[in-house]
Amino acid sequence: MTKLKNCAIRNAVFLLPLVVFGAIAAPSQTRSTPNAQLASKELNARVDALLKKMTLEEKIGQTVQYSAGFATGPSASNLTYDELVAKGQVGSMLNVVGAERTNHYQHIAMEKSRLHIPILFGLDVIHGHRTIFPVPLAVAASWDPEAAETVARVAAEEARADGIAWVFSPMVDIARDPRWGRIIESNGEDPYLSSILARAWVKGYQRGDLSKPDSVAACVKHFAAYGAAIAGRDYNAVDMSELTLRQVYLKPYRAAVDAGVATVMTSFNSINGVPATANPFTLTQILRKEWRFDGFVVSDWGAVAELKNHAIGDGPTVARKALEAGTDMDMEGDLYGTVIAEQVRSGKIPESVVDEAVRRILRVKFALGLFDRPYANVGPAYTPTPQRREAARKVAGETMVLLKNDPVEGVGTLLPLTTKARKVALIGPMADDALDLLGAWTVAGNPKDVITLKSSLSERLGDKLLYAPGCGLLSGADENILKSVTFASAAKSDANEPVPDDNKTIEDAVETARKADVVILALGEPTNWMEGEAASRAHLGFTGNQEKLLEAVVATSKPVILVVLAGRPLQLKWASEHVPAILEAWSPGIEAGPAVADVLFGDVNPSGKLPSSFPRSVGQEPLYYAQTPTGRPAHGDLSRMPHDAAEKFVSRYMDEQNSALFPFGWGLSYTRFSYANPAVDRSEVPVREVADNHQPVTTVSVEVRNTGSVAGTEVVQLYLRNTEASVEQPLRELKGFTRITLAPGETKRVSFPLGFDELNFYSADLKKTVEPTTYDIWLGGSSLATAKTSLKIVE
Ligand code: BGC
Repeated sequence: MTKLKNCAIRNAVFLLPLVVFGAIAAPSQTRSTPNAQLASKELNARVDALLKKMTLEEKIGQTVQYSAGFATGPSASNLTYDELVAKGQVGSMLNVVGAERTNHYQHIAMEKSRLHIPILFGLDVIHGHRTIFPVPLAVAASWDPEAAETVARVAAEEARADGIAWVFSPMVDIARDPRWGRIIESNGEDPYLSSILARAWVKGYQRGDLSKPDSVAACVKHFAAYGAAIAGRDYNAVDMSELTLRQVYLKPYRAAVDAGVATVMTSFNSINGVPATANPFTLTQILRKEWRFDGFVVSDWGAVAELKNHAIGDGPTVARKALEAGTDMDMEGDLYGTVIAEQVRSGKIPESVVDEAVRRILRVKFALGLFDRPYANVGPAYTPTPQRREAARKVAGETMVLLKNDPVEGVGTLLPLTTKARKVALIGPMADDALDLLGAWTVAGNPKDVITLKSSLSERLGDKLLYAPGCGLLSGADENILKSVTFASAAKSDANEPVPDDNKTIEDAVETARKADVVILALGEPTNWMEGEAASRAHLGFTGNQEKLLEAVVATSKPVILVVLAGRPLQLKWASEHVPAILEAWSPGIEAGPAVADVLFGDVNPSGKLPSSFPRSVGQEPLYYAQTPTGRPAHGDLSRMPHDAAEKFVSRYMDEQNSALFPFGWGLSYTRFSYANPAVDRSEVPVREVADNHQPVTTVSVEVRNTGSVAGTEVVQLYLRNTEASVEQPLRELKGFTRITLAPGETKRVSFPLGFDELNFYSADLKKTVEPTTYDIWLGGSSLATAKTSLKIVE
């Protein structure tokens, strides 16, 4: 994080560029045991010894998971958990929150069940447990693996203290369509960025040793390709070539497995006709055989039972298919516990299949030290500590993306805000909405811990601050949305209730704007239940009457800074044409107010970059930068240049540009960076050298200079294009990035290694390969990077 005000070095010129090497290495290729702890002989001997003592019912019990809390789908009903746990018929529970509640069931398991096998408690700890950080898509916008690791580490400490030893995170589904509400839980559209972050999340949760008292088992999800749901509609089918599956979608899961992730969750979707929860190709062939994953696989919520809806069999048949395919645990489906025993007894399922699933589950329980330390310490009610708040504020500061900061005539750029303005109007429904600033998917998060924008800005500005909510996030016209939102969030708060009579409140907001020198407009979408699961949208504009509010405030001719508070890319076309300054602040979590204020006032110089392309229009979706070429390319495919109006028989929309409004990797700073002298150490490399040697074969580098007057952090990005391959390759692909901080006038030479990991692609027969070709190479601050060099791979 860069403190502009404290910047000591101004206008210093560095004649000899410094070298930053290494950037971030790509995931490693081969490893015989991704998680040595789970493969340990001693641990497996304990597992086998216990397995020998178990009855068939007790074994099956380990494969059963029930929720004793809220539901995200159909629930198994009329169950008495105390009794089931005492009989050893439950191996894991979810949605049991707090040390007292987890201890309650754990005491039953440890004291009343015959074999005293501890329960493994799992929970959706998605972006923090009690200390809520920005949503994962925002964390991805930091392009900072250390930020992801911090979020995961703090979450692990807090979760474990509550008796939760297993978190259903990270979600690394490649998401290229913001209509899909779950994009907020993802690392965005790019397999390289997502793989780097996947490793960081796993590292933060598991800390290289599951037995530590404050590590938790991570669960990478949703395996596989859940993010490619047709038309962005949640739970929908996925249909894609195996080549794309391997080259794009599987990479981040693989990175998590290589990082030693202890568990994997299946996805709800089918993949090329075979539901992911009963898919032997992904669950056994790829995950177990190719990747040597030795943890266990849990189904998604009810996904085993829902196989009946996929029409691949009745209850017993689908349970057998799921178990045999490699789904070891049935989350809330209530099928493994009720139908598997009979199938084993009648010879339909070999008992060895059950044994293997149980072995995998017990391995994780032993590795976590649950047999030795089953209980949580019950302490006083927990609120986030100042240190954890500080961490949340720092991460949130890094996630903010300055989309636009054009000068206003007679005023200059609006950001960073100076304290010279006599009056500042803060307007908009997100300005003081604690629940929605927290972001989607926070089971144990508390809106009361959120510091809102209104509260932080009034602390900074005192009576210079004027405030008007302007309108609600939803309006009366959103009757159907309102029904599901109020239903779903009833348990937490009524904060989503719309402000009544938006026309009147918009008029008040306009009056407030007129009294001010500058307006900060805080708009977004109801993050709580209109984002995340089952929250697909066909429209991507601001919800309710916010667009009306935006237009009314802009019509006052006051200078407007738009702060967008939403977990997913929204369609900002009108705003981008009429508002001079736009800050994408996502769903920032409990430190929302302080973090946004830090950036608005320039205490933090924004450095976030988009992990996901922002569309001009919903009709462009799925929109992503790594498009493959067509035989009829349109001018401006990969740039912000408009199409040539006269172009007709090319691959384009007649009524919209092809390019993103704000492309992948985009993000401005309060300073400027220039890129010069891109170069490769060796411009030609023999193909055999690349193929035979999984070490870097050359280095590509570029000089980056801070040409502005304040210090700043830049995410330097490396993109490649293979210009002549046996299978057509994307127009650009991210293959490296690093964050560097430069004082004004400072220059650094930034280097990235290139080797097999960066240069390979899947051949038509699905083998990783390199071939003689030329790679075009670009380095820069976004996917529009222009500093160009090339590398030849020769015979
Ligand atoms: C979601 C998962 C989540 C699970 C448990 C499901 O509905 O798809 O991401 O981990 O519920 O709450």
